[in-house]
Amino acid sequence: MKFFIDTANIEDIKKANDMGVICGVTTNPSLIAKEGRDFNEVIRQITSIVDGPVSGEVKATTTDAKGMIREGREIASIHPNMVVKIPMTAEGLKACKTLSSEGIKVNVTLIFSANQALLAARAGATFVSPFLGRLDDINVRGVDLIKEISKIFKVAGLDTEIIAASIRNPIHVTDCALAGADIATVPYKVIEQMTKHPLTDAGIKKFQDDYKAVFGE
Ligand code: E4P
Repeated sequence: MKFFIDTANIEDIKKANDMGVICGVTTNPSLIAKEGRDFNEVIRQITSIVDGPVSGEVKATTTDAKGMIREGREIASIHPNMVVKIPMTAEGLKACKTLSSEGIKVNVTLIFSANQALLAARAGATFVSPFLGRLDDINVRGVDLIKEISKIFKVAGLDTEIIAASIRNPIHVTDCALAGADIATVPYKVIEQMTKHPLTDAGIKKFQDDYKAVFGE
């Protein structure tokens, strides 16, 4: 399973990129709004840092296929690594079909069922984004959705990649990797949590103490 970072925060993207663990970025309208900066400016900056797929979503207020297609073409023209993020609706599927047929990569987002993922894949999506955490929030096991989609895509021979999204903690990451997600898009906080283990800290301290006891500082 590969990692994308799920943020529009430039500092967090730089930190994760410097660690060498991420190969792409996902943003959404809420994450862009949180930064309070111009969409194009933020996206351009991200593409100059990470050499991999960068998902930029059509405006949250654009709900018709025609509008999503127009905006999708604009987003795709920002940089060759751009992926157009489109919400999972009937209009979104139409937009996905048109943009995909033009060679533009589409990430169909807000996926909450296996059937939605299957439809998106059939409409030509390069990526589908099932939202794990938001399902867990309503007492539905998000990881089961990842398992179902992964099984269905294998059976049907679909090469659409599964981006496990709405990841809230390190256990989600392990669960998604075991469930067959191709990619997990993870906030920086969770990447940081994943690096830590109390026995690693204790081990470092013991090595330092033993070394210093014989050789000094
Ligand atoms: C995915 O592409 C979304 O941007 C994101 O993972 C949503 O996460 P949230 O449910 O924590 O907002």
